[in-house]
Amino acid sequence: MGWKLAAFLLALSIKYTNADCTCYEQANYTGFSAPLSNSFETSDFSACFTPCKYVAYSGNDTFGWGGLTINWGSVKDNSGILQIFDGTDITGIPLIQVSAGTNVLSGSTKNLIKSSQPRITITYTQTGTEANNYNGVIKASSGLQPSTVPITTTAAPTTRTYNDPTFKYDPYLITHDIMIVVNQKTSGGMAALTQLNEIVNNTVMQLYTTTDINSSTGSRLSLASLTPYFPYYSIRTAIWESSAFDVVNNLPKSGISIEGNIDTALTGLVKLAYTVNNNSSIATRTNVQRSVVLFTAEWPTTGANLSTSYVKKAFDDYGVNLLVVGFNLTDNEKTALMGGASAYQWYNAVNTNKTTNDAVASFVNPYYFNDKSAPNFWCPMYHPTSSDNSSFTFQEPYNYDGPNSTTGQWSVSFDGQTGRYCNFASNQYTISRPDNADGMNVTVFYELEAGKDFLNFYDASNNLIASFTGYDISSSSFYTTTPVLTARFTSDNQSVFRGFNVNIKPNPKPT
Ligand SMILES: *[C@@H]1O[C@H](CO)[C@@H](O)[C@H](O)[C@H]1NC(C)=O
Ligand SMILES: *[C@@H]1O[C@H](CO)[C@@H](O)[C@H](O)[C@H]1NC(C)=O
Ligand SMILES: *[C@@H]1O[C@H](CO)[C@@H](O)[C@H](O)[C@H]1NC(C)=O
Ligand SMILES: *[C@@H]1O[C@H](CO)[C@@H](O)[C@H](O)[C@H]1NC(C)=O
Ligand SMILES: *[C@@H]1O[C@H](CO)[C@@H](O)[C@H](O)[C@H]1NC(C)=O
Ligand SMILES: *[C@@H]1O[C@H](CO)[C@@H](O)[C@H](O)[C@H]1NC(C)=O
Ligand SMILES: *[C@@H]1O[C@H](CO)[C@@H](O)[C@H](O)[C@H]1NC(C)=O
Ligand SMILES: *[C@@H]1O[C@H](CO)[C@@H](O)[C@H](O)[C@H]1NC(C)=O
Ligand SMILES: *[C@@H]1O[C@H](CO)[C@@H](O)[C@H](O)[C@H]1NC(C)=O
Ligand SMILES: *[C@@H]1O[C@H](CO)[C@@H](O)[C@H](O)[C@H]1NC(C)=O
Ligand SMILES: *[C@@H]1O[C@H](CO)[C@@H](O)[C@H](O)[C@H]1NC(C)=O
Ligand SMILES: *[C@@H]1O[C@H](CO)[C@@H](O)[C@H](O)[C@H]1NC(C)=O
Repeated sequence: MGWKLAAFLLALSIKYTNADCTCYEQANYTGFSAPLSNSFETSDFSACFTPCKYVAYSGNDTFGWGGLTINWGSVKDNSGILQIFDGTDITGIPLIQVSAGTNVLSGSTKNLIKSSQPRITITYTQTGTEANNYNGVIKASSGLQPSTVPITTTAAPTTRTYNDPTFKYDPYLITHDIMIVVNQKTSGGMAALTQLNEIVNNTVMQLYTTTDINSSTGSRLSLASLTPYFPYYSIRTAIWESSAFDVVNNLPKSGISIEGNIDTALTGLVKLAYTVNNNSSIATRTNVQRSVVLFTAEWPTTGANLSTSYVKKAFDDYGVNLLVVGFNLTDNEKTALMGGASAYQWYNAVNTNKTTNDAVASFVNPYYFNDKSAPNFWCPMYHPTSSDNSSFTFQEPYNYDGPNSTTGQWSVSFDGQTGRYCNFASNQYTISRPDNADGMNVTVFYELEAGKDFLNFYDASNNLIASFTGYDISSSSFYTTTPVLTARFTSDNQSVFRGFNVNIKPNPKPT
């Protein structure tokens, strides 16, 4: 395969000295997906050969470890040996042992071995002094006997005062299913990755998080990182069951020097984590806005064109929004990223050189709070136009798929997967009555969050003449003689539904 060849060529960045060599996992790991990767030079992420050891804990005593997969990118030292021990004791016979160069694939014997304890110890050693390059993962799954560890829960505050002027509203109000994706490949070295992680920290720590699939408030979180091997991502915390702390604690501690395929990774993540109503613990919530946020300190030109036919289609099909947050991009990278966003107009992108709340506000304000400080391609306006003044139409979302003619009805109940408007909407549409008309017939199809999201109509004197919220099985109509009709759509921070379609037919003056 072409990509594997590319991997071997890129893997030439391996060094044979061991100047400032750091283990991939520098501390112990808690989570459902423990990474296995070579130690690396902090300056440029090239592979090195320091022996490494850490303990992986599933975080739940009924979850043990198994499903090991390992890919060796290149092998310079055949003495390399990876060992996995059951428990925190490394004496005795390892549970699994893998020699340098031996890939462990899904379904193989070593892949099927399971630990008997919620903690395992992972060690890598070699006797030679040339560096090997490998990437892999071992996953936690349920099946162990439960222990009697007490369960503590912390009640979340329901109200709080908030007055940070950096943000348009309190980030606690954000109600999204958010997948944080960190690009581990960075030309800026450890410094860039650390700062990227800091932006993630400063973003997720401000959210009010929930793991309840039935909750209509708060954000559910999940963390993945981009990796060099198919499927080009690694899930780092339990999908939709992660707290902000889980996300922060599992941020990648080293970069990678081999490029994966970002398009394939993002598309795979959307299909994995954003299915509704399929009874799975990794299903997304219905009727909430959803977003994937890719944090990256470089903008690659290969394998990341975010094409409309492939990547956009998957995001649209699953009703998910994409945001790319660039950190300290060079002018060329920035132009490629921001230019792509404005040319294709389906994803949002920013570049920031900061890690503070100013950086967070640069994407939270325009895209999560819709404050109009930048064009928000997640919910573009659909401006009413008419070539001959006979009929005007506008709708939200732009890909509205409800009824649009008086014979149409809201028939199928909404599964909440795709085609919804945005939170914090505040959009205005104005239609002037053509000179040759004495009034306008307005037909409205709508499905909005009842009592919270509104489509209101005002006449030329700004008097409210019609207001829609909730939904009607068929359309509603009214007639107005106002010379200027203004419609305002506002939505709150919570549920999002199939939206509205408005059709306006000017009634010609009798001749
Ligand atoms: C990792 O866990 C082991 C066993 O629980 C412990 O002995 C060791 O001190 C821990 N290491 C770190 C860096 O926390
Ligand atoms: C551990 O997982 C089991 C099975 O999913 C679940 O019922 C239990 O609540 C979990 N325990 C903790 C402490 O999270
Ligand atoms: C992470 O965020 C918290 C809360 O915003 C902040 O107190 C802490 O300093 C941040 N940590 C880092 C490493 O940025
Ligand atoms: C969510 O709601 C459904 C339907 O009301 C219910 O069957 C399910 O148990 C609820 N799940 C949780 C985690 O509360
Ligand atoms: C739900 O969808 C996910 C992602 O497509 C899939 O992995 C899982 O098997 C599905 N679960 C069920 C119960 O259909
Ligand atoms: C979801 O799971 C519940 C309990 O396991 C089962 O009763 C129900 O039929 C399932 N629903 C679907 C749509 O598979
Ligand atoms: C974008 O990526 C797709 C899939 O990787 C590829 O088929 C297509 O040629 C790429 N387009 C451009 C303009 O690079
Ligand atoms: C951010 O840093 C890059 C690289 O040093 C520089 O090219 C760019 O102009 C900076 N951007 C801003 C907004 O300061
Ligand atoms: C941005 O990158 C340049 C090198 O390209 C570096 O000198 C500068 O310190 C970086 N800026 C920040 C804010 O990290
Ligand atoms: C009206 O709805 C039908 C079916 O839902 C769709 O095929 C058609 O394109 C829509 N027309 C407009 C103008 O949106
Ligand atoms: C539509 O109506 C406006 C306002 O009366 C008028 O200025 C414009 O010429 C009309 N356009 C057409 C195509 O009739
Ligand atoms: C507007 O509605 C009235 C009845 O309410 C109807 O008589 C008239 O034909 C309609 N005009 C158009 C252009 O549909």
